[in-house]
Formats: sequence, C-alpha cells, structure tokens
Amino acid sequence: RQSLKQLRQSEHFLQALIDAIPDGIRVIGADFRILKANAAYCAQVGQEMEQVVGSLCYASSHGRDTPCPHTLINCPVVELCEKGGQQLTTQDKHKTADGQEFHIELSSARVDLQIDGKTMCCAVESIRNLDEQAKISQQQRLSEIGLLAAGVAHEIYNPLSSIDLGLNALQSGLETTEEAKTLEYFETIRHEIRNCIQITDSLLLLSAPPGTDKSLIALDKLVPEALSLLRFEADQSGVRISHDIPEDCRIIGSDSDIRMLVVNLALNAIHAMPDGGHLQVTARRENGDILLSVADQGVGIAPKDMNNIFMPFWSRRADTSTGRGLGLSIVKAIVKRHNALISVDSTLGKGSTFTIRFADADREAQDEHP
Ligand SMILES: Nc1ncnc2c1ncn2[C@@H]1O[C@H](COP(=O)(O)OP(=O)(O)O)[C@@H](O)[C@H]1O
Ligand SMILES: [Mg+2]
Repeated sequence: RQSLKQLRQSEHFLQALIDAIPDGIRVIGADFRILKANAAYCAQVGQEMEQVVGSLCYASSHGRDTPCPHTLINCPVVELCEKGGQQLTTQDKHKTADGQEFHIELSSARVDLQIDGKTMCCAVESIRNLDEQAKISQQQRLSEIGLLAAGVAHEIYNPLSSIDLGLNALQSGLETTEEAKTLEYFETIRHEIRNCIQITDSLLLLSAPPGTDKSLIALDKLVPEALSLLRFEADQSGVRISHDIPEDCRIIGSDSDIRMLVVNLALNAIHAMPDGGHLQVTARRENGDILLSVADQGVGIAPKDMNNIFMPFWSRRADTSTGRGLGLSIVKAIVKRHNALISVDSTLGKGSTFTIRFADADREAQDEHP
C-alpha cells in the first residue's frame, strides 16, 4: 500500500510539474493517442483534460478524423516513431475546439517509455502559441518602426541645418539690412520649421496606440504623410517611392492603424528591393470598395512561402537586415479590425503587390445619388 501511495504522489508531482510549464505539452504514443498533456495545452485547444488524455492527437489539435497527410506537415509521431528521428522543430497551425486556428511552433523529441511492461516509442511535444506570443503589444508595433527613427532624425537634420544657415545669414545681415533678403530668410526658416513639424507629427501619429475610435480617412493625405517617413530607408537602397491616390478615396478607420499598415507594407517592399527599384502605392474606387495597393519590383515571394509570410516570427528578407517577422502579422490584425481583405500577387524575380480591399466610406452617399 505504501508503494501505491508513493506512486500516486509521484504521479501528482509529475502532473503539477508539467502544468507549471507555460507552453503546451503533450506526450503521444506511436498509435497517435495522447498519453499525457498539461494544463497549458488544454487551455490552448479549449478542451478539458479528460477529453484530451486518451484522444487522438490529430483529432485534438487538427480537428481531423484521420492522421494528417504527411506530405503537408511534418508530423512528429511519424518523423520520430516511424522514421526514427530524435528531434523535430516545426511550425504548424492548431485548431481550438470551436474551430479557431492559431499558429504554433512545435519542438518535439523522441522518448522510449515503459508502458505495461513494454517499451513504447513516444513523441513529447512542446507547443508554443505564436499568435498569443505575438498578441501585438504596442511595444511590438513600435519595435517594427523603431529603425525608422534614424531615418527620421536625418529628415529633421536637413531642415534644421537650413534653419541654422538662415539664422546665421540673418545675424550677419542685420548690419546691412536689406529688407527683401531678410524676408526671404524668414520664409526659408518658416518653411523648414513646418517641415520638421510635419515629420514629427507623422511619426507621432504613427506611434499612437492602436485606435479604437475610427474616423474618416482621406488616403490621398494619409499615404504621402506615412511614406514621407521612409525617404531615408528608401534612399539607402536606391528605391524610388511614388504614389497615385485620387482625392475621393476615403475609408472609415483608425488613423494610426492605417498609417502603420502603409508603413509596414512599404518597408517590406523596400527590404525586397536591395538593388533598388520602384515602390508604388496606389488607390482606386471599385464597386463600393477602396483598393489600396503597395507594389514593388523586388525579389517576389515563392508560392510555398505564401502561407508562411503571415506567420508571426517568420522572416526571410532579401536584403541582409534581420526582421522580427511581425510586420505582416500586424498588418493582418489591422486588416481584420477594419473588416477588410488582403491579397498578394507575386512573381519570383519580378515583384509583389499587396492589395487591401476596404469598404468605401462614400459608398452610401454614392448609392443614394448614383
Ligand atoms: N513585398 C515583399 N516582397 C517579398 N517578400 C516579402 C514582401 N513582404 C513580405 N515578404 C516576406 O515576408 C516575410 C515576413 O514579413 P514581415 O512579417 O513584415 O516580417 P519582417 O519584415 O520582419 O521579415 C519577410 O521576411 C519576407 O520574406
Ligand atoms: Mg516587415
């Protein structure tokens, strides 16, 4: 009896231990049955522990009746137990009990466990919910644009230098006052100060917390302002930026969100053109929608990567810079918040176009007066 008690105690100890781990953990037998799981896994998939233990792994996390097709995903049970691998790290999607998909990163290892006197090969999986981890905090949104600061400082440096020159000239000119010249200096100084204010304004608007209050946004005004922050980045890689946005392209949205969206897509376009090229932002009205497109002449996206690019933390930039892989996750979240749709059209070696379809703010007015 003593040893039974000890056994129970160590069982409790083990469960408490794995329940304390913040990532989802499950142990799966070669027959795809889940032998053990922790509280974090149950929370991830929204199932009770009693439902999880003893169920089939592909039913529990993929909502399937049959094992996942091996050609589509790297299944740890197959890779470790059937093919004899030792470890596997991969990214995949899991489903909650109510059918919501989330991105995960899975690290798994093979263990040989003694079960009912027989040695059984099992896969131990550690499952991190990437969407949860990327629950894009304001800090992460800002880290995406943090690098802009250098370029923006440069943008402000130039006007400030002009102001300085203007003031010097005024000072030395004070003795021999020629009114016309003085007025000209004042004009330059005013102009450059307005430039500085506009640049800092754009940066502040961009870094405002994600807005819940929506307003009427004129894209022909917002887009150039947002793009003006990228001039330095673009110059560095020989990218020419242009925009063509008719006056009547208006949407209802959160100002800081839409700025963030434009900046993230444009930054990606710049990173995709390490040897220079043309970055073009356009908008047009179409059947009650506004289509906003960001097109580049960069390296393009391979068809097999199309699913990956929107994964949090997935980053493969064409220039040598290191990304955090959050830009498109942020874009996707913004698109969702605005009930908009995003599509990508890309040809390897030619370039990519990201298009977002928003509802036209003037649609109702248009319907009333066709
Ligand atoms: N315009 C583009 N052209 C080519 N590849 C792109 C483009 N936009 C995004 N990608 C690919 O998608 C990846 C993820 O983008 P993103 O989420 O913004 O992360 P990051 O920019 O930090 O790498 C990029 O690393 C790149 O491989
Ligand atoms: Mg990016």
